[in-house]
Amino acid sequence: MPTLDTAEILNILQMRRQHCRNLLDLSRRQRGLIDASDYSHLLTVLGQKQRLLGRLDELNTQHPDLRGQWVRLRTLGDPEWRDDCEHILAETEAILADLHAGLISVEEARRIFARDREDFRTLRKLSLTGGEPSLRRDLADLVGAVLDSTPAVRTLRLASHGMVPDRTLAAVEGCWSVAHAHGVERFEVQISLDGVGEVHERIRGIRGGYARVRETLERLMQLQKVVAALRISLSTVVQPLNLENLPELRRLAATLGLPITFSPIVMSGAYYANQSRDLDLSVGGDARAQAFFEDLAHTSRGTDAFYYADMRGMLEGKPRGRICMQGYHSCVLEADGGLHACVNSETLTFGNLREQPFREIWWGEKAEALRRQLHQEICPTCPSKCYARPVSAGEVLRISMQKLSGGSGAPSSSGSSEV
Ligand SMILES: C[S@@+](CC[C@H](N)C(=O)[O-])C[C@H]1O[C@@H](n2cnc3c(N)ncnc32)[C@H](O)[C@@H]1O
Ligand code: SF4
Repeated sequence: MPTLDTAEILNILQMRRQHCRNLLDLSRRQRGLIDASDYSHLLTVLGQKQRLLGRLDELNTQHPDLRGQWVRLRTLGDPEWRDDCEHILAETEAILADLHAGLISVEEARRIFARDREDFRTLRKLSLTGGEPSLRRDLADLVGAVLDSTPAVRTLRLASHGMVPDRTLAAVEGCWSVAHAHGVERFEVQISLDGVGEVHERIRGIRGGYARVRETLERLMQLQKVVAALRISLSTVVQPLNLENLPELRRLAATLGLPITFSPIVMSGAYYANQSRDLDLSVGGDARAQAFFEDLAHTSRGTDAFYYADMRGMLEGKPRGRICMQGYHSCVLEADGGLHACVNSETLTFGNLREQPFREIWWGEKAEALRRQLHQEICPTCPSKCYARPVSAGEVLRISMQKLSGGSGAPSSSGSSEV
């Protein structure tokens, strides 16, 4: 660990403050663009934020003991230097407080869930996604605050890009120790992998990102030897840039012994900020994507087979066939308290848990009208794999037969999964 002199400490503190200021500016711009439905510039702002977070991360990694060194030199350095440092530190704290102001704190989450405890009494599964959930250093405490008032939760799920191994592992270990103490029996950790090697890095825009994901996977698999409740899986977004690479990705998953799921890219201005037609698989109907999902439909088990058959149809222009029960059986709670049916309906907010109890929002007329709007306007073109349970008597029947016979029981790719 490098020992810093006073000038270096001052310099690093100034850099940190500047990065935080820029981050705050970008966050305000992001909010303005979302409010104005200006999604074309949103992607640029999100990219700039990602780079800034990377720089801040780099500073923290290079100088993990910055605070300790400042404290040690504080009484020895000259008073002017000390005043400058203190001023910068106070300003940085204020900027960080502004940045966090929109987020529900651990204490706020504890209060909200305790207030609505009766409504969350039967909640069985808690999923953490993002953005990148492992960026929140208080993630485990947040999970604990929620689990304190959700006694029936037995499954915890975490989605991560896995590109910062230490951070993903810290989030997994921290969340598991809290969840285990609350009676959670299963911890599903889903790592995103959009291609093998350079393909993943090109899609994610992070050089060296593939090796880092592999390191995360190795370490998670080691952890699994002592935490039997851990289930690791891979998730791939199928898009034009990885179509050729998908068979290799499937082979890699098989070699690692990890389940992998595929879903066509969702085009969404608000959540994924990706409105480019170049990414849209349904434009022009890509035969490779159709063949890939056809094969998945025939070789997968359980509800995955029905989902993949449905996607095969959507890729040739059909509307979504499988009903999605998001918004009825599950909901999304945003980091700022907003409540929606699903991640693809951020613009249709039912209400905010900071302002109203869950039951008023969930059973209210606004939520009912928005559910109808969602199912009429957004669901027919949404290829999301969010809802994983059987959705019709036909599916239940075929899955039961499949279990009895030990076969794949996959539906024909041309048929809808509905009966
Ligand atoms: C929003 S991410 C959050 C987890 C993590 N930060 C990440 O980058 O993967 C949750 C899941 O959504 C997937 N995803 C991201 N963009 C998507 C898109 N446009 N369409 C469908 N899925 C997408 C990710 O690959 C991941 O599996
Ligand atoms: S199909 Fe898509 S838009 Fe509709 S509820 Fe499910 S995830 Fe949301």
